[in-house]
This record gives sequence, structure tokens and C-alpha cells, in this order.
Amino acid sequence: MTTSPKQRPGLSTTTGAAHARIWGVGGYRPERVVTNDEICETIDSTDQWIRERTGIITRRQAAPAETVVDMASAAAIEALTATGLTASQIDAVIVATVTHPYQTPGAAPMVADRIGATPAAAFDISAACAGYCHGIQLANDMVRCGSAHFVLVIGVEKLSDFSDRTDRGSAFIFGDGAGAAIVGPSGFPGIGPTVWGSDGSKSEMISQRDSWIEVRDHNAPWPAITMQGQSVFRWAVYSMAPIAQAALDRAGIKAEDLDAFIPHQANMRIIDALAKKLKLPEHIAVAHDIAETGNTSAASVPLATQRMLDSGEAPHGGLALQIAFGAGLVYAAQVIVLP
Ligand SMILES: CC(C)(COP(=O)(O)OP(=O)(O)OC[C@H]1O[C@@H](n2cnc3c(N)ncnc32)[C@H](O)[C@@H]1OP(=O)(O)O)[C@@H](O)C(=O)NCCC(=O)NCCS
Repeated sequence: MTTSPKQRPGLSTTTGAAHARIWGVGGYRPERVVTNDEICETIDSTDQWIRERTGIITRRQAAPAETVVDMASAAAIEALTATGLTASQIDAVIVATVTHPYQTPGAAPMVADRIGATPAAAFDISAACAGYCHGIQLANDMVRCGSAHFVLVIGVEKLSDFSDRTDRGSAFIFGDGAGAAIVGPSGFPGIGPTVWGSDGSKSEMISQRDSWIEVRDHNAPWPAITMQGQSVFRWAVYSMAPIAQAALDRAGIKAEDLDAFIPHQANMRIIDALAKKLKLPEHIAVAHDIAETGNTSAASVPLATQRMLDSGEAPHGGLALQIAFGAGLVYAAQVIVLP
């Protein structure tokens, strides 16, 4: 016998905190420093060209045995220490990455186990360089809807495993690392509305070269990540400035109210062009972590945030505009109150 909808009992649902904010951040930078001269051992380029075209002087590279899970766990522990929270208080772990080398299981459950956050919900998201900013919005919604009290969001990449050292168009750009943030309840709005979106018609602009199936069936080489540098550059500068402006507008914030601008560390010239297009006043600190970190994809915004807070470049409790964009193509931007 079927029950009619009218007789069905109503479901209980959750409600969460009125607001959410980032409670603290942490980061992990592998020990090994790779210079431009070392990069030029496998491509026809120069230290000067790489510095001038990208702003990158050095990047970090994980040790061969160092994994995405290792780096993510180290960043997560730093974020826990920064907040004074314990791992058992974390209800959900979100890992943004495109370089965890297992299709399954995800990295997040392993990170949760490693840091002692079990049985937290734990899952990976694949939104390339924009993954961390997507994760912040998910965590914001989870805290405010009551599906989690504290959410650990990690952006982590071991791009050295997925780069082609002989590709003149990309070998110099990527770095390895992990950045983490803990999002929890707040007495004030700490994460503004996220402006996010995608354009899958441009998926070929940054992409893994071949699918795993092609590698299996056609003996394709190791599927490194490649990009159409000039097209990506133009898209980032011309299409992302209005997205960053929209995030400011939706948060009700003017550029001059900001303390920091923390864009994805894709390329120094993209960072500076975005700052110019947004007409940021001189006093606003702009993240330039790329110089010593390279482009660490999902890890770049949290790592840059951590550096700015640790160095005193950006004030604790200040307002920051963060925006990230990358393969997909996908993007996400939001104004946050710095922890
Ligand atoms: C990759 C990138 C640095 C290349 O810079 P560019 O100025 O666009 O370079 P171009 O491809 O137009 O090439 C310009 C010149 O540099 C040369 N060149 C290209 N790669 C080179 C290299 N690695 N070393 C030295 N010279 C190089 C080209 O041969 C060309 O020479 P020519 O003028 O004599 O023909 C730049 O396009 C870029 O940063 N794009 C965005 C990448 C990015 O942000 N990716 C991540 C997104 S999440």
C-alpha cells in the first residue's frame, strides 16, 4: 500500500549559525627550492625571461615520496594550531586538488584520518586553481545551514608530478604546496557572497594532455597539464576583473575599503593587471607570493593569505578580496574578513 503525500510526516531539517568566518589559516611549503636556472636545464629559456614574463624567481618542489595527503595534513595541523581548535571539532574536511594521484579514494578521508578528524565528512573537489575559493563558499553554506559547525578547507597540489619538464609553455610556472583554512560560526558576516561560474567551452585552454583511458589504450605519454598561455592570460585579465568587481559589489564593499587583494597566484603580470583594472588604491596590499612559490593552483590563495598575515602585510581582521580561476574554465571570488 502506498502512502499519499498528504499523510507523509514532515522532515526535520537543520539550521546553522547566522554567519560564518574563517577562523584561521595554515600552510605547508616543501623544503626544496627550485630556481629558474634549474628549470632552464630542461627547456630553452632564461632566468631573466621567466622573471619578466611571470614574476617567478623560485618555486618549491615536494620530495618524491611526499604526497598530497602529507602536505595537506601539515597545512591542516597549522590551521588547527592557529585557531586553537582540536581535530575532533572538525565536522567536514574538503580537499581541493587536481594532483592527488588516485582516482579513488579521495585525499580528504585520508587527511581526516591522519589529523584525527574522523568521522568527519570528507570529500575532494576538482575545481583546479579555483578549488579553494569554491571550498570556502561550500563551507560558508554548510556552517550557515547547520550541516557542519567547523569545516576544514584545504587547497593542495603536487604539480611536479603532473608537469612536463620539457614543455617550454608551462614547465616554469608550477609549484607544490598546501594551504588550509578553518571555517566556523561567526557573530558577524565573515564571508561575502561568492561570485562563481564556469565556461566549459574553453576546457582545452588548461588541461591534462590525455585522459587516463588514452594513456591505457594508446600508450599516450604521462598526461601532464598543459595550457595555451596567451589565451589563458587574456581570459584571466579581461574576464576576471569584472568577476572580482562583482564580488566587491555583492558584498557591499568599495575597493578603497579593502586591506588586501589576494588573487590566484597565476602570473605576476595577471595579478598586477587585475589590481590596475580594479583601480585599487596604493595602500591596499596585493599578494605577490608567486615570486617564491610559483603557481600552486588550489593552494595559491591560502598560501598567499598565510604569508601576508605572517609578514604583517595584511592585518588580522581586515577585509580581503580573493579570486581564483583556472582549468574548466572555472572561477570564484569573494570578500572575506581575514582571521
Ligand atoms: C605562459 C606565459 C608566461 C607566456 O608568456 P607570453 O608572453 O604569453 O609568451 P608567448 O607565448 O606570447 O611568447 C612570446 C615570446 O617568448 C618566447 N617564449 C615562449 N616561451 C618561452 C620560454 N619558456 N622561455 C623563453 N622564451 C619563451 C616565444 O617563443 C615568443 O618569442 P618570439 O616573440 O620571438 O616569437 C603567459 O602566456 C602566461 O603567463 N599565461 C598565463 C598562464 C597562467 O596563468 N596559467 C595558469 C592559469 S591558472
